[in-house]
Amino acid sequence: MKKSRKLSAIILSMLMIFSLAGCGSSSGSTADIGMENKESESVSEQIDAGESAEGSNDNVTQSEPDTQDTESAAEDRTESGSDILVVYFSRTGEQYSVGVIDKGNTEIVADMIIDETGADRFEIVPADDYYPYTYAELTDIAKQEQSENARPAYAEEAPNLSQYSTIYIGAPVWWGDWPMICYTFFENNADGLAGKTLIPFSTHAGSGLSGFDNKLAAACPNSTIGTGLAVSGSDAQNNQDSVRSTVHDWILGQ
Ligand SMILES: Cc1cc2nc3c(=O)[nH]c(=O)nc-3n(C[C@H](O)[C@H](O)[C@H](O)COP(=O)(O)O)c2cc1C
Repeated sequence: MKKSRKLSAIILSMLMIFSLAGCGSSSGSTADIGMENKESESVSEQIDAGESAEGSNDNVTQSEPDTQDTESAAEDRTESGSDILVVYFSRTGEQYSVGVIDKGNTEIVADMIIDETGADRFEIVPADDYYPYTYAELTDIAKQEQSENARPAYAEEAPNLSQYSTIYIGAPVWWGDWPMICYTFFENNADGLAGKTLIPFSTHAGSGLSGFDNKLAAACPNSTIGTGLAVSGSDAQNNQDSVRSTVHDWILGQ
C-alpha cells in the first residue's frame, strides 16, 4: 500500500513537472499564439486582399520586363536625355466611386506611361495645396474655379521643356473639362509647349475624354495633338492589368 502510494506520488510529481514544463512553453506560446493569431489575421487579410486584387500579383510578374525596360530607359536618359515628359495633375483622398485613395487615379496611369516609355515626370501640385480632402467639398471648389475661369497657381515650376519632343498630359475630368490648374500650366508654358506633340489622357467616372484633345488644341494652338486616352478612375484603381495593356497599345499606336 505504502509502496503504491510512493509510486503514485512519484508519478504525480513527474506529471506536475511535465505539465509545468508544458505551462512554461505555453506561457511563452501565449504570446506566440497572439502572434500566430495576428499573423494568421494578416495572412487572411492578405488572402482577402489578394482575392480582390488578384491582378496586383500578376502585375508584379508582368512588370518584371517593365522594370528592365525602365532601367534601360533610365540608362538611355542618363546618356542622351529622354525626349518624353509626362505631366499630370491628380488627387488623393476621397474620390468618386473608389473611396479614399492614397494614389490618385491619374497618377496610376501616368506611372504606367512612365514605365512604358522611360519618360520624365512633372506633377502639377497646387501651391499651398488648398484642395479639400472630401469629394463633396472638392467638387464645390472645382465648380467655383470653373465658373470664375480661375487660374490656380501650382507649386513647383515645370522643367525646361526644350529637351522634350512629346509630352503626355493627363488629369481627372472635372465638371466635363480639364481642371483649371491645367490651364494655368498650358498658359504658363505656352512657348515651351509650342512645336511639341502633346498627348492628352484623362481619368473619369463616365465622361470619357470630355474633349480634352480639342480643348488642349485650343489652349496650345501651335502644338500637334496626339490621340487621347480616357481611363475610368475605377479601372485605374482596380483593373490595372487591363489598363496597363490598354496604355501599352495606345502608346504604340501614337
Ligand atoms: C471636382 C470633381 C469633378 C468631377 N467631374 C467629373 C465629370 O464631370 N465627369 C466624370 O466622368 N468624372 C468626374 N469626376 C470624377 C473624376 O474625374 C475621377 O474620379 C478621376 O478618376 C479622379 O482622378 P484623380 O484620382 O487622378 O484625381 C469629378 C471629380 C471631381 C473631384
